[in-house]
Amino acid sequence: MWGGRFAEGPSAIMREINASIPFDKALWRQDIAASRAHVAMLAACGIVADADAETILAGLEQVAAEYEANGVPENWDLEDIHMTTESRLAELIGPVAGRLHTARSRNDQVATDFRLWVRDAIDQVDAGLAALQRALVMQAQAHADSIMPGFTHLQTAQPVTLGHHLLAYYEMIARDRSRFADARTRMNVSPLGSAALAGTGFPIDRHMTAQALGFAAPMRNSLDGVSDRDFALDYLQAAAQCSLHLSRLAEEFVIWASQPFGFVRMADSLSTGSSIMPQKKNPDAAELVRGHAGRIVGCLTSLMVTMKGLPLAYSKDMQDDKPPVFEAANLLGLSIAAMTGMVADSTFRTDRMRQAAELGYATATDLADWLVRQANIPFREAHHITGAAVKLAESRGIALDELSLEDLQAFDTRIDQRVYAALSVEASVAARASYGGTAPDQVRARVAEAMQELEQG
Ligand code: ARG
Repeated sequence: MWGGRFAEGPSAIMREINASIPFDKALWRQDIAASRAHVAMLAACGIVADADAETILAGLEQVAAEYEANGVPENWDLEDIHMTTESRLAELIGPVAGRLHTARSRNDQVATDFRLWVRDAIDQVDAGLAALQRALVMQAQAHADSIMPGFTHLQTAQPVTLGHHLLAYYEMIARDRSRFADARTRMNVSPLGSAALAGTGFPIDRHMTAQALGFAAPMRNSLDGVSDRDFALDYLQAAAQCSLHLSRLAEEFVIWASQPFGFVRMADSLSTGSSIMPQKKNPDAAELVRGHAGRIVGCLTSLMVTMKGLPLAYSKDMQDDKPPVFEAANLLGLSIAAMTGMVADSTFRTDRMRQAAELGYATATDLADWLVRQANIPFREAHHITGAAVKLAESRGIALDELSLEDLQAFDTRIDQRVYAALSVEASVAARASYGGTAPDQVRARVAEAMQELEQG
């Protein structure tokens, strides 16, 4: 491609270190689309003859058909997807293929292709996350009344409903989707026509190519056009944060599926057995989602460090932008699909959850609140009385509402029979009907809103 300037070919190591075709062949659809838009524009602007443009477009169509049928050939001498396509085009249509690269550089070409790829990846992620949200909402609807212990410090805190717990993840995923959508809007501008770095002397129409590729506008600065990788970083940032949410949800399943908890029975389809312990059913999918989050964060770190010291405009370091993005996209897609299946197909053992809520003195706050409301005791004093009651119940190995009225009155004479109504886990969750609270009616209201949101897309 640049033989004119060189007396000698590259060494074996140069060819190998330089070749990006093993991974950037993933960009072939975007590369063909961008070339089509470019050559159509060159013809419309009178830079390439219409007949030549027709020949090039037909040739590109044939190259695409070959890639579709047989995959992209990997020849290190051709370095990357751009040269691979151009050289095959030349084999097919002859020297007229050389007109395609008029007013274009691989620098704006790769920036365009990669941006298109990331934009597509965002659309795919969004569809996957919507499916995960649907699974969460369906289970939340089924379990609006199912009571489980809510935790702080992984110690039983207050009873919550399982529906409420699952809807917390719906909210996280909603923020992820909005982060991806923000990133998509911000990245949806076209670098094509920035050429190598300075723009071009040919009378091109960058608005035309931008429009043809679905971009909102051309980028306003050619140096920025070829050297900006914020779009890839924005994507990885959103992917990393999303992977943290998936990992936290996965961790809940790992804990809930453990025998001492026994809150969930995972679907066989997302579990594995042990080669030695016949009783085992392991939550490997959840653990891998947890593990993948680490790798996705690593991908973000990798590209941030690649970009941090680069002067304008293009440097070859930037060829290393693609592997972390491709890897993160693959891992994120798998993680979303695994968690969607896990949420949809797990059986929640509501009996075990309810029992755990009852055994953990989860309604102690309700006793303290009752003392404040019914007996007009200052909260700090009520907290102290309740603590003593929990201590007594614990020493006897019984629940709070199994203490006799005499026992309770020994702590404070203002306590009467009505207190027992406040000590059940049902009363506890029903009482938390503040907006966004765990009360079953609140959960049902949120489920209805979420279903509407999902329908509207
Ligand atoms: N394969 C290169 C990449 O992925 C394409 C751009 C090459 N540009 C250059 N000036 N060598 O970044």
